[in-house]
Amino acid sequence: MLTPFLTTVRLFLHILAASIWVGGQIVLAGLVPAVRGNATVTKALANQFNRLAWPSYFVLLATGVWNMFAVHFWAMDSAWQTVLWIKIGLVLLSGLAAWLHTKSKSSAGLAVWGSVTALSALAAMFMGIMLATSV
Ligand code: HEM
Repeated sequence: MLTPFLTTVRLFLHILAASIWVGGQIVLAGLVPAVRGNATVTKALANQFNRLAWPSYFVLLATGVWNMFAVHFWAMDSAWQTVLWIKIGLVLLSGLAAWLHTKSKSSAGLAVWGSVTALSALAAMFMGIMLATSV
């Protein structure tokens, strides 16, 4: 049987935003070495990515809350809920680290906060799939 239309829209928006927030970071990390040494181009790439990434992050938060209500999170068992709360913690960490990354002036700060942003986002994505496949 086909999934109801609104469920498809909800998951489509959640996954589209996740693919930009998570996949965009991986693609950017892959492109930056090609323009290293040219600070103007590196900065321009990072700024343009920020314009896509932050709206995607807020779409993730909004559709994430929509997911919680759609799957009746309060009726899930405690293991499922624990994974969800850990996932939400990782999402908030990813946003905070991304913000600190944009404010960093040192290359160590950029590297540390950039890595924390990407790793926590990847872990959140992994947990999202755990949640969706155990509904
Ligand atoms: C970095 C941010 C996030 C990423 C990368 C992410 C990724 C994902 C992915 C890939 C899925 C699986 C969808 C599927 O295959 O059906 C998912 C499901 C889910 N996500 Fe997220 N998510 C993020 C943020 C959030 C937030 C902030 C919340 C809650 C406020 C949330 C709640 C959920 C729930 C409840 C599901 C299960 C939905 C269902 O089974 O219908 N997510 N997430």
